[in-house]
Amino acid sequence: MRRKLVAGNWKMNGLRAAGAELESLVAANPVPLSADVLICPPATLLAAFATQAAASPISIGGQDCHHAVSGAHTGDISAVMLADAGATAVIIGHSERRADHAEDDAVVCAKAQAAWGADLTAIICVGETEAERDAGQALEIVRTQLRGSVPDGATALNTVIAYEPVWAIGTGRTPSNNEIAEVHAEMRSALVSRFAAEGAEMLLLYGGSVKPANAEEIFAIENVDGGLVGGASLKAADFNQIIAAAR
Ligand code: PGA
Repeated sequence: MRRKLVAGNWKMNGLRAAGAELESLVAANPVPLSADVLICPPATLLAAFATQAAASPISIGGQDCHHAVSGAHTGDISAVMLADAGATAVIIGHSERRADHAEDDAVVCAKAQAAWGADLTAIICVGETEAERDAGQALEIVRTQLRGSVPDGATALNTVIAYEPVWAIGTGRTPSNNEIAEVHAEMRSALVSRFAAEGAEMLLLYGGSVKPANAEEIFAIENVDGGLVGGASLKAADFNQIIAAAR
């Protein structure tokens, strides 16, 4: 039985005052939960959030890392630095990174290996654009991205996959339940054929306009093991309802 994971991706949102939202989340989830909960704040808040959540069941993660451990890469953050600040996981290959920073599958793959090197779980994102879905290429795109972005040696412990159709992110639109089920079944079968038992146990998250009103329905779809939540993770009240939907 795969334990569900609800991960919040705050993107470039949140000043120090947003610690109050984390405080509410910690207060509302004081005991071991039946689902895992992760918050990925901007890097500036990571260390403070890790301290704030230390005694709670909520974990803290990064939103990206460089593939190198250290060096002359102005503005970048290494996986080791994220771990040192208290992160246990890092999002890799989000479509906003792929688009804004021209990250291709090879870069994503190298970053995932760097995450593992720092003992972080790599949450590797894949997903088609709207044009690709309209052209009937969604499954093929996701398969190709999985092949190129997920390094050899992936296990259910060191890797989580997030299916995030680009056109569903921040738009309020989601694929139908059948479309989500189809992509997740395809990912499961690709991961099982490559990683055998580890592929069967790997968590597959859905991301893209998950909100309190649709979380329960989406989390009930076969092979959906939780969600990667952007906008609706910024407010503790909304995110708490999504966490509750995963229990
Ligand atoms: P959204 O973002 O929930 O705001 O659509 C999801 C994501 O980009 O991870």
